Amino acid sequence: MMEQLKQELSAAIDAADSLDALDAVRVQALGKNGAVTSLLKTLGSMTPEERKVEGPRINGLHSDIADAIEAKRDALADAELTKRLASETLDLSLPAKDRPKGSVHPVSQVMDELAEIFADLGFAVATGPEIEDDWHNFTALNIPESHPARAMHDTFYFGENQMRDGQPMMLRTHTSPVQIRTMTDQEPPIRIIAPGRTYRSDSDATHTPMFHQVEGLVIDRDIHMGHLKWTLETFVKAFFERDDIVLRLRPSYFPFTEPSAEVDVGYSLKDGKRIIGGDPNTEEGGWMEILGSGMVNRKVIEACGLDPDIWQGFAFGCGIDRLAMLKYGMDDLRAFFDGDLRWIEHYGFSALDVPTLSAGVGA
Ligand code: PHE
Repeated sequence: MMEQLKQELSAAIDAADSLDALDAVRVQALGKNGAVTSLLKTLGSMTPEERKVEGPRINGLHSDIADAIEAKRDALADAELTKRLASETLDLSLPAKDRPKGSVHPVSQVMDELAEIFADLGFAVATGPEIEDDWHNFTALNIPESHPARAMHDTFYFGENQMRDGQPMMLRTHTSPVQIRTMTDQEPPIRIIAPGRTYRSDSDATHTPMFHQVEGLVIDRDIHMGHLKWTLETFVKAFFERDDIVLRLRPSYFPFTEPSAEVDVGYSLKDGKRIIGGDPNTEEGGWMEILGSGMVNRKVIEACGLDPDIWQGFAFGCGIDRLAMLKYGMDDLRAFFDGDLRWIEHYGFSALDVPTLSAGVGA
């Protein structure tokens, strides 16, 4: 009878074609109520003589079946693994996945270049809010309410129900309010640049309602226009990466600087293209305005709570988008902000090309 049971179980183990089926056989044989387990239980009621004979036989059967199940389990697991490996092959001849899309916008690139150039001259980067109040954007900059400069700025005002502390609010029309925020927040000496978004209600090939400026501000003792001119020359040469760049300072007017100068950069013609640098005094050459500047007006220094007899300085403001257009050769400003992937793929910069003075700030 035991021989028959062994044959039946062996056949069932042989026939099991999956790990689940094998486990069912194991329960049937060795489980709590399994056939072999039941035989083991009969040992308890046997006489010692019977047990001497039957014990080794039943235990032998138990270990034979357990071994057979174990061997079969290994074989099934092997077979299953082989089957899985065969179905999970990697096709190394398939084309690689697209590289992640994305590049650095020329405006961001130029901002990084400016930060790098001015960091080398000891300037920190400052920021201010894009939603400004009347005092920071105009009044403290010596542009009182009746001043015609307010009308010239084509300001985007928030409605009368959006006043804050009795003040009209607006999208800042220039980065100059960061001068005020820095002078009221920080003790001089001050050396900062403030790049960021600015807004005016204006739109054509060279104007967009949102555009970018960078402000520069130095406040210290005994600062004069020579410092301003040297700083601007050093900056423009580093930015355009040429030494043969000439600047021309033209007398101008800004309420917040006195005296004020608009700065032109000389260009020349090379291979039919205008390039920054070279001799502007030829027939094809000329001057291009790139920024506004001047010595910070005493009234502005006073409005910030500083004594203008002790502290003086210079400031300048420059359109970043225009700098990018001049350096990298785009001719329509509106395309900067259209979000056209083809444009950004063409004009964008690799995120790994970090501008440094040693390796060249340009890409
Ligand atoms: N804020 C001026 C503008 O937007 C530029 C400027 C800044 C001029 C600082 C002088 C000094 O036109």
